[in-house]
Amino acid sequence: MAEAQARQRGGNTDDGSASAQNGVRYEVDGEIATITLDRPEKRNAQTFATWSELARIGENLPEQVRVVVVKGEGPSFSAGIDLRTFTSEGVPGQGSFSSVAADGDTGFEQRIRQAQAGFLWLRRPEIVSIAAVQGHAIGAGFQLALACDLRIVAEDVSFCMKEPALGLVPDLTGTKPLVELVGLAKAIDICLTARTVHAEEAMRIGLAERVVAGGDLDQAVKDKAAQLLSTNRDAAVATKRLLQGAQARTLEEQSVAEGIEQAARIKALFGRSG
Ligand code: ACO
Repeated sequence: MAEAQARQRGGNTDDGSASAQNGVRYEVDGEIATITLDRPEKRNAQTFATWSELARIGENLPEQVRVVVVKGEGPSFSAGIDLRTFTSEGVPGQGSFSSVAADGDTGFEQRIRQAQAGFLWLRRPEIVSIAAVQGHAIGAGFQLALACDLRIVAEDVSFCMKEPALGLVPDLTGTKPLVELVGLAKAIDICLTARTVHAEEAMRIGLAERVVAGGDLDQAVKDKAAQLLSTNRDAAVATKRLLQGAQARTLEEQSVAEGIEQAARIKALFGRSG
């Protein structure tokens, strides 16, 4: 009962129906939020509305949430952008690339920034995001998985950065995490050939943290969430902040940053009030 009360379905929206309309299900259960792409009959193809909804969820994420799970309903995590976006008719009510291109450079870049906002918040230090990936993760689907801190995948996973094959670049925040995870050479190989990366390779090159049988994916994600929730919240936030900043800093600068974060932790844990 208490658990049911703690659960907010579609809690980020005014009327609770916008998420569903945009093909996204959203649920908060205590410290865990779960976002489910929910158009399995279209392999969870993503539209501008999907990205607005993701951004809205991020903006309204309840403060208590520490773990965000991103998953896809049905056989595929996501088959990428809705291919109707490439047609002159576009996605009903959302236009097409031709209509967006007609906005001019500034308007188009603004639309891209809006879409990217749906992905960027998944890296906030206050949360750890986990992508639960089964089946196809193509284009925007691959990038959504890359937007998360961790990827737990099913044995049938197939990642494909299809954009260059379609004359596009990956622009939904995926290029940086891909390079950081697998290195520049492998990222060039994966993107410029638009080839498919299967589970064994994903694990070997660092794209996936864990590969499990399809039927075990939900449980594996639950187990990881429980492990993440077992550590001290404030220490976890500070540690993620440190780890995220590590690459851009020298060893000396990173050591200084560690000292500053630790001083704050020790003060919070052992400091005397007054
Ligand atoms: N956009 C819109 N509809 C899609 C998409 C998509 N990206 N992907 C699949 N669908 C639809 C299909 O048209 C089909 O609809 P229908 O039942 O009304 O005919 C339904 O989803 C099921 O698709 P199938 O192809 O029958 O499913 P299958 O499991 O055999 O194949 C696969 C899945 C491999 C993902 C295939 O659908 C596919 O190649 N999709 C296109 C992938 C793509 O090119 N995405 C763009 C990447 S670039 C980017 O994201 C920026």
